[in-house]
Amino acid sequence: MGGTGFIGREIALAVAQAGHPVTVFHRGHTLGDLPATVDRVLGDRRHLSQHADQLRAAEPRVVIDVIAYTESDAVTCVDVFGGVAERLVVISSQDVYRAYERFLGVGNGTLEAVPYTEEAALRDHLYPYRDRVTGGNSWITDYDKILVERAAMSDERLATTVLRLPMVYGPGDRQQRLAPYVHRMSDERDAIPLEAGHADWRWTRGYVTNVAQAVALVCGDDRAAGRVYNVGESDALSEAEWVTAVGRAAGWSGRVVPIERSQWPAERQLPYDWSQDLVADTTRLRDELGYTEQIDRDEALRRTVEWQRDQDRHADPSEEYGAEDRCLEG
Ligand SMILES: NC(=O)c1ccc[n+]([C@@H]2O[C@H](COP(=O)([O-])OP(=O)(O)OC[C@H]3O[C@@H](n4cnc5c(N)ncnc54)[C@H](OP(=O)(O)O)[C@@H]3O)[C@@H](O)[C@H]2O)c1
Repeated sequence: MGGTGFIGREIALAVAQAGHPVTVFHRGHTLGDLPATVDRVLGDRRHLSQHADQLRAAEPRVVIDVIAYTESDAVTCVDVFGGVAERLVVISSQDVYRAYERFLGVGNGTLEAVPYTEEAALRDHLYPYRDRVTGGNSWITDYDKILVERAAMSDERLATTVLRLPMVYGPGDRQQRLAPYVHRMSDERDAIPLEAGHADWRWTRGYVTNVAQAVALVCGDDRAAGRVYNVGESDALSEAEWVTAVGRAAGWSGRVVPIERSQWPAERQLPYDWSQDLVADTTRLRDELGYTEQIDRDEALRRTVEWQRDQDRHADPSEEYGAEDRCLEG
């Protein structure tokens, strides 16, 4: 389900490379560069039941739902494949943890312990982005991976695995999360300033190909049925360490400079509580299924930086350089 986008395409490739026949279901807007052996069923998942016969005819043993964002997405998926497939693998997110809402500034401000295992407390509040969208029509309004996981786990006919993903980086990242840093490095900035709290803040990340390998591993191992796994690199770099690693991959010789919040431009302060790290414990996936990353971080970043440099500059950061220089001098 959704096997042609940033993460989904890599999953389809990894599963196909493991020797399994693959069918992807998508609308046909994002083609993905997939081998001719991968079959496609075209359709909109908002009307999934209309495509049920075609999807069931593919006789999937494992269904990988990459794009279940709402409870209703998961319910329809279970309805279509329950009693047809043996297993369901659902791509979830580490935003299910209570630590995430603390990071968003929700709650009483008590920090959650990290690293969080799969047994850690989940958010106390549903729909984490509902208050952050305007207009009310976006799917983001009903987005909640807690409800997705619950619905996906609810059907006894399907043995479900939940994979909680970290921040995923790599070529094809539609959010282009490395862009602000890579642009500054390409512009040969001597220093990249970060708000001090942000510089120290730790976040679990994962390279897209390694994440896809984890999904393929889970699909091929029935011990994963009924289990929940965190996915991500075993060490969570601080943002300053991360930018330094990106710099190494980019051949940049500048410095990352933490700037006290009081000196940081007000218009660039982000609404996050940087004292809440978002660090996942990924031991379960490694110990139970023998998962290890195939591509190390330096190589992963080298590939990502190379791709990022080929992208159009959607947001030119140069107009921020004057304010940054004043911070750095101050
Ligand atoms: N990126 C991260 O850091 C991160 C972190 C945690 C979790 N995740 C999870 O990773 C998943 C995102 O995967 P991705 O990056 O591969 O997504 P993506 O790049 O947005 O790709 C979306 C895929 O779904 C298809 N699609 C979109 N809307 C559709 C619809 N209405 N009906 C049928 N197909 C549709 C697209 O193909 P068409 O356009 O052809 O339809 C494409 O194959 C989400 O579950 C997200 O929560 C991501």
